[in-house]
Amino acid sequence: MQFQKREIIIIVDFGSQVTKLIARRVRDLGVYSEIITPGEIRKIKNFDMIKGIILSGGPSTVTKQKFQTIPKKILLMKIPILGICYGLQLIAKLFGGKIRSSKKRREFGRSFLYKKRNSTLIKNFLKNKKTVWMSHEDAVIKLPKNFKNIAFTKNSNLTIIENIKRKIYGVQFHPEVTHTENGIQIFKNFLFSICKVRKTWNIKSQKKILIRNIKKIVKKDKVICALSGGVDSSVVALLISKAIKKNLICIMVDTGLMRKNEFQYTYKIFKNKLKLNVKLVNSKNLFIKKLKGISDPEKKRKIIGKLFIKIFEKESQKYKNAKFLAQGTLYPDIIESRSISGSKTAKIKSHHNVGGLPKKMKFKLLEPLKEFFKDEVRVLGSSIGLPKEICFKHPFPGPGLGIRILGNITKDKIKILQEADFIYINELIKNNLYNKIWQAYAALLPIKTVGVMGDSRTYEYTCLLRAVTSEDGMTADYYNFPKDFMDKISNKIINKVKGINRVVYDISSKPPSTIELE
Ligand code: XMP
Repeated sequence: MQFQKREIIIIVDFGSQVTKLIARRVRDLGVYSEIITPGEIRKIKNFDMIKGIILSGGPSTVTKQKFQTIPKKILLMKIPILGICYGLQLIAKLFGGKIRSSKKRREFGRSFLYKKRNSTLIKNFLKNKKTVWMSHEDAVIKLPKNFKNIAFTKNSNLTIIENIKRKIYGVQFHPEVTHTENGIQIFKNFLFSICKVRKTWNIKSQKKILIRNIKKIVKKDKVICALSGGVDSSVVALLISKAIKKNLICIMVDTGLMRKNEFQYTYKIFKNKLKLNVKLVNSKNLFIKKLKGISDPEKKRKIIGKLFIKIFEKESQKYKNAKFLAQGTLYPDIIESRSISGSKTAKIKSHHNVGGLPKKMKFKLLEPLKEFFKDEVRVLGSSIGLPKEICFKHPFPGPGLGIRILGNITKDKIKILQEADFIYINELIKNNLYNKIWQAYAALLPIKTVGVMGDSRTYEYTCLLRAVTSEDGMTADYYNFPKDFMDKISNKIINKVKGINRVVYDISSKPPSTIELE
């Protein structure tokens, strides 16, 4: 395993749900970070540019005979180490401390943290008492030799530990989650006071490097890009066009399952404003035909995904001299497709997006965004001239409205939903709410209810509105709208959209629900 010549913080992922947030926090502070598996750290040949190592949380337990670990010699290399949750327990175990699993010691959710002694790690973070986020059953009950106890909670005595000489630190709580008050300060202290790493990571400065690399890889060949109009594929297309100009062919497949006007809007921007070589494929009728009578969510997803790929394959074959296929793969896609322990996490929904194109296509892959998080991609997009409306657009699923019309899909239902969704999203923009929300959409429920309009009885569909706040789509909370906005939006949709006589708001969080309904 080899890294580029730049200062880096390595995060060893032991399988925590929130490891990605650690990498995000480090990068947000201007330091490049990468997540690797415990197996990968064993393969690193050259540690020169590694300025610090963070050990994540995870489901393993050091109280069992077999547990996830890394070679102790890595902890003795004088590279600063920060263990978080399981990471702390692993450090304690490797240095001879004692860890016990007990119901009495477990802590889930908020806990109060109290200071025992000063430490560089808690500078400007912990004066006397602080709220931190916990999620553990095991706890360190005996300090390893040469470690000191810095802080404690009611249930865990050794909540922060350190070995100053070796620059090894451990925290039982999760500073990476927003529920830990000012948790970012722990990272600031670790990075800048302990690792002494420099702030060299700046997404805008990557622009030139990315363009140069694309030129170097593609040379005089042609590249095909599936352009959906979402942020990722749009940034990929624009970035590649900056590198190789006319040798890029963008293919837009119109499934008829996009938001109102969205397809035309994106097409015009890319074709007329950004002057890219865009080929439009109208497949609306084909999609509606194949989806006829299908109401099972997984079947719908599979049909849409397969059809998209078939059409795309057929279109791309027209460009015999194209050697590369560009995809909007992001860093989280890469992390998620790696397995920490060989076990696969349960599949909740079969995701489809234009990035998931088949391997059997005879193209070489070009994935210029595979080192970046979505927020970073948005910044990059802005810096290369992608319009704000595309850069800061809410995420939109590959199967589009196909999974937002519950039950069977018809042309009429698509039209009804497009109208309702259009009103909703425009009201969010007008009321300055759009940018406060991570993702919002309208869905059409497969139930009709009775209403009264004027003097007549109606029997029409129910529209569900969803708006969530989230950091990465892995977890989400519903957005708390002011009542007057709710009144306004329900009124407007019912009055303006023929076919809807009831509006409901989804107040479930993820987990246990998901963001989409199907
Ligand atoms: P869920 O519903 O799983 O959604 O909580 C999490 C995020 O993923 C998006 N999503 C998809 N994106 N293809 C995509 O490109 C898909 O098939 C797909 N399904 C869900 C969803 O909109 C949310 O942002």
